[in-house]
Amino acid sequence: MIGIICALDIEAEKLKSSMTDAATEKIGRLVFTAGKLMGKKVVIGMAGVGKVNAAMCTQAMIMRYNPWLVVNSGVAGSLSPRLDIGDIAVGTGVVEHDFDTTAVGDAPGYFNEIDGDTFPCDADIAAAILRAAKGENIRALPAKIASGDQFVSDSETKARIVRLFGAEACEMEGGAIAHVCHGNGVKCAVIRAISDSTDGEHHIEFYKFLPIAAENSARVMLALLREL
Ligand code: ADE
Repeated sequence: MIGIICALDIEAEKLKSSMTDAATEKIGRLVFTAGKLMGKKVVIGMAGVGKVNAAMCTQAMIMRYNPWLVVNSGVAGSLSPRLDIGDIAVGTGVVEHDFDTTAVGDAPGYFNEIDGDTFPCDADIAAAILRAAKGENIRALPAKIASGDQFVSDSETKARIVRLFGAEACEMEGGAIAHVCHGNGVKCAVIRAISDSTDGEHHIEFYKFLPIAAENSARVMLALLREL
């Protein structure tokens, strides 16, 4: 079983409509849809927005469905001139940019359990995602991804995340998903299509490009399943 976690309905639409033998189940507020995609057994979990929602969803998914891999598929803001609208950031690792114990002497984003700031994404799966995107003619680059409970929309915040973590895309769930996967010994991958540049008229840009970005992440997710 492969787990797929999305935050927004629009990110999961194409995946759900391609599914066969679908069965839906609720755990608390969380909705899980198990079935087959590209002939593979999958479960799609709808997390909602933010790290706590994503952590709840990941832990519940792992305990209920025992996936060997959890893939976070969705959209992100770009922190890098290398990543344009519609491009895919393939997670090499994920930081939680708003986790801060610097007041007691730690580095920004530092977690004891990994003695560092970056929760890992599986390298073989990341390579498979890059191949899958190529097959779809969608531009994809390996990138460090930064998660936080904040929609990044100003140049100062953007510059801080880039300076401290070297991240190239930002979103609000991947860090929690990778964190919980790491804590449970489950492989993790993050596929994020760029929906906005995190500066300028970001809110207008986000809603304008959300549909195309959501479509691209879902296309790459489906192509990955074909590869696996
Ligand atoms: N998801 C998509 N765009 C984002 C942004 N600018 N900040 C946080 N999460 C996002």
